[in-house]
Amino acid sequence: MFVVHIVASFFSKLQEDPTKKVDRFLYAMHLHDDQLSDISARFQAEMKKGLSVESNAAAALKMLPTHVRSTPDGSEKGEFLALDLGGSRFKVLQVKVGEATGIKKGGVEMVEKTYPTPEESSLLLQLFDHVSESLKDFLHEKNISLERKHPLAFTFSFPCEQSTLNQGLLLNWTKNFRAGGLQGKDVVQALRGALDRIGGVDVEVLAMVNDTVATMMTCGFDDQQCEVGLIIGTGTNACYMEELRHIDLVEGDEGRMCVNTEWGAFGDDGALKDYVTEFDRDLDAASNNPGKQILEKMVGGMYLGELVRLVVLKMAKLGLLFKGQVSKALRTKGTITTEHVAAMEEYKNGLNNTRDLLMGLDLIPTFDDCVAVQHVSTIVSFRSSNLVSAGLAAILTRIMENRNLRKLRITVGVDGTVYKMHPQYPKRLHKVVRRLLPECHVRFVLSDSGSSKGAALVSAVAQRLASRRRQVDGMLSPFRLSQEQLRLVKTRMRTALEAGLKSKGSSAVKMLPSFVYRTPDGTEHGKYLALHLGETNFRASLVKFKQGLQHNSRLYNKMYTIPLEIKQGSGEELFDYIAQCVGDFLDYMGMKKARLPAGFTFSFPCEHTAVDKCTLVSWNKGFKATDCEGRDVVSMLREAIKRRNEFDLDVAAVVNDTVATMMSCAYEDPRCEIGLIVGTGCNVCYMEEGSERAEGRAGILKMCINTEWGGLGDDGSLDDIITPHDIEVDQHSLNPAKQREDYFFRGQGGRNSCVNIILSGSANTVLFCVAMPIMVCVVVQVCGAVSRRAAQLCGAGMAAVVDKIRENRGLDHLNISVGVDGTLYKLHPHFSGILQGTVRVLAPQCTVTFLPSEEGSGKGAALITAVARQKLETSHD
Ligand code: BG6
Ligand code: BG6
Ligand code: GLC
Ligand code: GLC
Repeated sequence: MFVVHIVASFFSKLQEDPTKKVDRFLYAMHLHDDQLSDISARFQAEMKKGLSVESNAAAALKMLPTHVRSTPDGSEKGEFLALDLGGSRFKVLQVKVGEATGIKKGGVEMVEKTYPTPEESSLLLQLFDHVSESLKDFLHEKNISLERKHPLAFTFSFPCEQSTLNQGLLLNWTKNFRAGGLQGKDVVQALRGALDRIGGVDVEVLAMVNDTVATMMTCGFDDQQCEVGLIIGTGTNACYMEELRHIDLVEGDEGRMCVNTEWGAFGDDGALKDYVTEFDRDLDAASNNPGKQILEKMVGGMYLGELVRLVVLKMAKLGLLFKGQVSKALRTKGTITTEHVAAMEEYKNGLNNTRDLLMGLDLIPTFDDCVAVQHVSTIVSFRSSNLVSAGLAAILTRIMENRNLRKLRITVGVDGTVYKMHPQYPKRLHKVVRRLLPECHVRFVLSDSGSSKGAALVSAVAQRLASRRRQVDGMLSPFRLSQEQLRLVKTRMRTALEAGLKSKGSSAVKMLPSFVYRTPDGTEHGKYLALHLGETNFRASLVKFKQGLQHNSRLYNKMYTIPLEIKQGSGEELFDYIAQCVGDFLDYMGMKKARLPAGFTFSFPCEHTAVDKCTLVSWNKGFKATDCEGRDVVSMLREAIKRRNEFDLDVAAVVNDTVATMMSCAYEDPRCEIGLIVGTGCNVCYMEEGSERAEGRAGILKMCINTEWGGLGDDGSLDDIITPHDIEVDQHSLNPAKQREDYFFRGQGGRNSCVNIILSGSANTVLFCVAMPIMVCVVVQVCGAVSRRAAQLCGAGMAAVVDKIRENRGLDHLNISVGVDGTLYKLHPHFSGILQGTVRVLAPQCTVTFLPSEEGSGKGAALITAVARQKLETSHD
């Protein structure tokens, strides 16, 4: 019979090739490369929209953060139960990963059983009850102990909003699922609830992942270049590794995170309007979720057969096929499936399979009908792979742009029945992607059963992280201070402040007079030079205050690095270097001839005898120049300027950075009577009254005192809260047993910036994140504990200071502001919050406002110089 057809067709071929008729009819489904590039560009725009916090709500592509931060490194191990729900089959598995289970490193062993997919319209209860029952049955059948708790990996192939790895709110159902009551709920919790109801199975859900993510992970286990996961199955979707700095919905800037694009929803906002055909519209209208998952309905296996049926039906109705004959079966939804589509395109049997299908639908096809229907199937599935190519090209282009690359070598892990079963699909997809993006070397790897294996890999990492976190948590317990311990620190600080005021410089907390008697009153005016020594760099600034006008200053700045050999050379070399920098700055400002009044911020402990006379008590923070301790700093500076013999300066005041900071903030807020620095070092000054140590001119007992509170503990008063790690830092410092409290706050010589960097997730984290995700978490955890303790100790000290000021003034309640500066305070994401919280609890009778200071040492030193000058002018008048 079929032979007759072939002979007949030979003659009819002389008339018209049946594929031509189909080509004409389905013209709109042919997508040329320029159209694909256009779709790809729209895809990229949608991805951007989904990643941005402002436009995410309106975006069709949800771009969901998955909290998977790296692909596997091959060292993952463990034994897991796994559930795989959402694809064409529902599976329960036992997955053994890595050497611990007797499998060689990098190996995976899986035992699986397929269970009926939960009913299409099942209720929530029934869905997860079915899942739990299946799991229980699996444990029985495979003889897996019910006694112990099993770690579980859950592949759930629907759009979920995750804030952690083992939690996720279902945004909406896709494909053929629509169990009621779960939308907007945590899926893991729903599963746990069902397991509790069923009883007898004890599991800990370690990770819930989308099938795309799991596929990428499986492929990444063998190939480190795999950074994209692609599913072309019942539905379609892709995930890829995005730069964290572009994911607005997740904190942090460094490293990467896998984003589940949920690209099946592409077109839901009309982006594919000019590519959607009448068949797509009919299919959508008759679906579970009209108007939703537009791309998925043009690509996914759940819809391909149906699209072919709708086209064939229409052609038959128009008399273009089967001589206009239409059967009941052809009119019935679902009678052509993806399996049929795949079979129609088989290399050898394609035509026979087409004929069998059509006859099965009670049609009587001619040979030309079979050729035509086979061609319909080709056009529908070719369009599917073309659309996937456009999406993939968008992702790969984005990855190249993110990494500033002109060429990219990358692997895409792929899974799904369409990709696996359709004989022509992979070849077409690969060819078009390579044509669209010739600059990309793309390797496609079929990741068979990838979903279950990948979920187990994610769980293995999660499990390793959890146990490491517990271990590190234990190690960090000495860093955790109780309220009781913090109260003790406050009391000891108070005792130390009082002892310092009485002892005239010999106690641990030195309480050094600054000879600054008042904060600015806004009448300060003129041009001043400000010099600052005490951080990594030396700074020179020119500050101008306009006469009579408060809050009106201008500042010009230049920084100079101080080489280590100068910091730790001789005193003369250090001050010669400073004079050289000042000369350069004056040159730069064109002011070498002017004899400017200058203020010198010198951020080390100094014993003053006047505002412009002070001897250095001892170096710290990495400075150790010889022949300076015990000498007058201003004289050393003046001598160096004289030696240089290039310019002249009127050095009118020398101040500590805390005092400069207080002055600069007091210029804005008269309530500011405390200065705090939390940077390379940590220190506080405040307006003391009533103590002899604060005695100024004419016996007035009010003066700013530089506490040098970093010395707290040098006399052993903090020994009970010091950890072995503090002792180690102390012993490796330049000045062992000095500035104990400073070390609590900052670590050694500038290391604090590392703590900041790690906590706010910048530079170093990238390296760690890419290479060692577990290390990152440990480092972040350690930094968190260390800096939390620093902020709390600082808060306890501050509580002692504000209470002392309140009592000095005999007040029930004190309202006061603190001027603050320093990199740790300003850059650390949580330091100020913890500090303020601690002060609130430990000094409930004080309302303390913290004012971040801008350019404190420059402005403050200039202000003190202005105040000192005014004083001089008044006394001359
Ligand atoms: C399978 C996975 O291999 O691929 C599923 O185990 C996944 O979880 C699926 O969803 C996608 O393809 P399909 O065709 O089953 O939907
Ligand atoms: C600067 C201030 O911003 O911070 C200085 O102007 C202060 O006065 C310094 O000494 C302290 O911070 P760090 O972190 O640089 O030591
Ligand atoms: C649907 C789901 C998506 C899944 C895809 C493939 O598009 O929404 O989460 O990845 O199908 O299974
Ligand atoms: C150190 C110095 C101190 C300074 C502080 C902040 O503790 O001893 O004088 O204020 O660092 O820079």
